[in-house]
Amino acid sequence: MTQTLAGKTGLVVGIANEHSIAWGCAKAFQTEGAELAVTYLNAKAEPHVRPLAQQLRASVILPLDVRDDAQMEAVFNAVKAKWGKLDFLLHAIAFAPKEDLHGRVADCSRQGFLTAMDITCYSFIRMAHFAEPLMTAGGCLLTMSNYGGEQVVEHYNIMGPVKSALEGSVKYLAAEMGKSHIRVNVLSPGPILTRASGGLANFEELLREVQRKSPLHEAPLSVDDVGAMAAFLVSDGARHITGNITFIDCGTHVMG
Ligand SMILES: NC(=O)c1ccc[n+]([C@@H]2O[C@H](COP(=O)([O-])OP(=O)(O)OC[C@H]3O[C@@H](n4cnc5c(N)ncnc54)[C@H](O)[C@@H]3O)[C@@H](O)[C@H]2O)c1
Repeated sequence: MTQTLAGKTGLVVGIANEHSIAWGCAKAFQTEGAELAVTYLNAKAEPHVRPLAQQLRASVILPLDVRDDAQMEAVFNAVKAKWGKLDFLLHAIAFAPKEDLHGRVADCSRQGFLTAMDITCYSFIRMAHFAEPLMTAGGCLLTMSNYGGEQVVEHYNIMGPVKSALEGSVKYLAAEMGKSHIRVNVLSPGPILTRASGGLANFEELLREVQRKSPLHEAPLSVDDVGAMAAFLVSDGARHITGNITFIDCGTHVMG
């Protein structure tokens, strides 16, 4: 069978371990024939991420804390040096300080808000800026959001407004970059137990509630389910899809 991403190159940002949504996506990209560049957060994360990146036969493996401008430039310079182009990029990261994430939006500190916006939202805008000149033949920028960016989800707290800003940024980037055939999309998965989601208060309860409410009443989603959709969205099969929010949540978003 033809591999849908054969000959394509992609940058994957967001693998922490084998539970990460970015790992599910990266596996699907590689299975479909893409050559990958993979980043890890810092020296502490490297021993967990490097073996996974090697499993993917990633051509570029570099550190990236998105708050560090020099590291961000170094990653895109390495991609340019290796391939001279980039076909797609996955941004699957989020962060808010615990005390702000667990409190009410009304009580969020200025620093907590700015940190959450910087890491979760602005980093995607910055990556789009650096990816654009490498996407000379068009491309796809893909990020991860959550239904909590659309409607109020209990315990999602400050990450809700931050994801709303991310989704808004995607729409504006899609409008700006369409003429260069660069597509910009959001995947919005239902709850999956990962390191980041485990940091939300009452996450297990949310998982049970979503399963009870969802039209499909499916067992919890896996990162591989998200990966399959991500691989489609970055492929040429999705060439008419941009500015889109794709829910992969067993239909929960249509329920009141
Ligand atoms: N797990 C879920 O239920 C769920 C549902 C919907 C959306 N999402 C979104 O999916 C994305 C991936 O999260 P996940 O659930 O796979 O968790 P995860 O913990 O596996 O991944 C989060 C990643 O963010 C990275 N990160 C944090 N701060 C960073 C920084 N300063 N610079 C660079 N990277 C940084 C971490 O290193 C990690 O790789 C997030 O955007 C999250 O909001 C998750």
